[in-house]
Amino acid sequence: MDPDIEKLFDHAGVAAEGGLEALLGRRVTHQAFGAGKIVDIGTGGQGQGLIVRVQFGEVGKEFSPDEFRRQFLRKQYVMNQPLISNVEGFVSRVKDAFERKWLTNFGHLHEEFSDALRDELDAPYVLPVTNATFGLLTLLNAMEIRGEVITVPFTFPATYHALFHVAGVTPVFVDVSERNFGMDAEAAAEAITENTAAILPVHVYGFPCDVDRLASLARERNLPLIFDAAPCFGVKYKGTTITNLGDASVLSFHATKVFTTAEGGAIVCRDRELYERCKLFINFGIQGEQTVEMVGLNGKMDELRCALGLANLEGVDLALKRRRRVVEYYLEFFSRSDFPAISYPQDLYQSQDHELNYSYFPVVVEASKEMDRDILYKRLREKGVFARTYYYPTVIDSPIYEDYHPQYAELPVAEKLSKNVLCLPVNPNFDETDCEYIVEALADSMGSA
Ligand SMILES: Cc1ncc(COP(=O)(O)O)c(C=O)c1O
Repeated sequence: MDPDIEKLFDHAGVAAEGGLEALLGRRVTHQAFGAGKIVDIGTGGQGQGLIVRVQFGEVGKEFSPDEFRRQFLRKQYVMNQPLISNVEGFVSRVKDAFERKWLTNFGHLHEEFSDALRDELDAPYVLPVTNATFGLLTLLNAMEIRGEVITVPFTFPATYHALFHVAGVTPVFVDVSERNFGMDAEAAAEAITENTAAILPVHVYGFPCDVDRLASLARERNLPLIFDAAPCFGVKYKGTTITNLGDASVLSFHATKVFTTAEGGAIVCRDRELYERCKLFINFGIQGEQTVEMVGLNGKMDELRCALGLANLEGVDLALKRRRRVVEYYLEFFSRSDFPAISYPQDLYQSQDHELNYSYFPVVVEASKEMDRDILYKRLREKGVFARTYYYPTVIDSPIYEDYHPQYAELPVAEKLSKNVLCLPVNPNFDETDCEYIVEALADSMGSA
């Protein structure tokens, strides 16, 4: 095949074996005209040779293979794109805030957003905060947790970093379960000592961890149970919003999450006193104008982010449905494919116990001489598919912490998952063609192992 044409295929992200027709309908992005679709490939008049015709909305353009390569950016299949669902709604709320001349410090929008979240999450108390990391820090301080906190190393570093920054708290890491990636309840039970002050599990990838067993463990041992529920907006467990379990939970509204305020998060709890203490902590601990009741910090969510949150609440259900379609595409693909080296948490997708938000699609790659997670990651990347190696390294394997905490006993499941899991992109903006491209890229990468 003419190398020029071969490059054309490569650039459009399609296998050359499909012939030129396989390029038809491909979405491409032009540096100046934006998103377009290849509608025809044929020979141009006046000896122009091969011509690629691309339609940009109403406008059609023709390119030689050379120009095509030069001027088109290959589509990148990124993990997620931020939810932006009602720009007008956002702008009009921001204008209102500007007119009121009120931008932060528990303004109208903060109140409106808190109320809307309470409804959405069916929760008694919801406090928007600057981010989930600060939410964890706030809870640990407001609950006056001092001593050992049992948590997991297979998580985003923020879980540990929040613990690190609370005076008098020592994290105790326990292993996770291969079934749901979250805290192993047996391991947690064994780790409890007279110094244990709280249990802090994580709902990894938005899959509920072993909440029933952890809740009864916490009850039996009279320990606070705080969930890092950062990726869990929209997740339910046995009919209840997941953040209503335990003593308190923290959600993240970071731009990478299924629901976003750009940066942001929320503390969800059932106890009024705890809510009030958290509210005090995120406002420097100051009550009124002159009374400092607590050595608090600043974690308030400002009015502009609340405006974005209110606007985005209108579009989040649709985004969750779209994410579900992407995951269903992957599930269907894996059900008819045979990759002995790849497994995925099929049971979790079939369980009636929970409703998921489809925030991630983790696959576990069994390592061999020819293939492992990192090889697959690299091959997919070369094809424009940006899967992620969440969570590598674990917080007990990162050299940065060596000076801060003692060496921990090996936690084999966490270590194995951290080396073997690859999260495929789940982006609500993917259509069927995108999903098809991603699974083809995966099959291709596995096939050439
Ligand atoms: C499990 C977990 N905890 C905490 C965080 C921190 O969230 P934020 O960026 O809102 O501080 C994240 C963010 O990715 C997370 O995945």
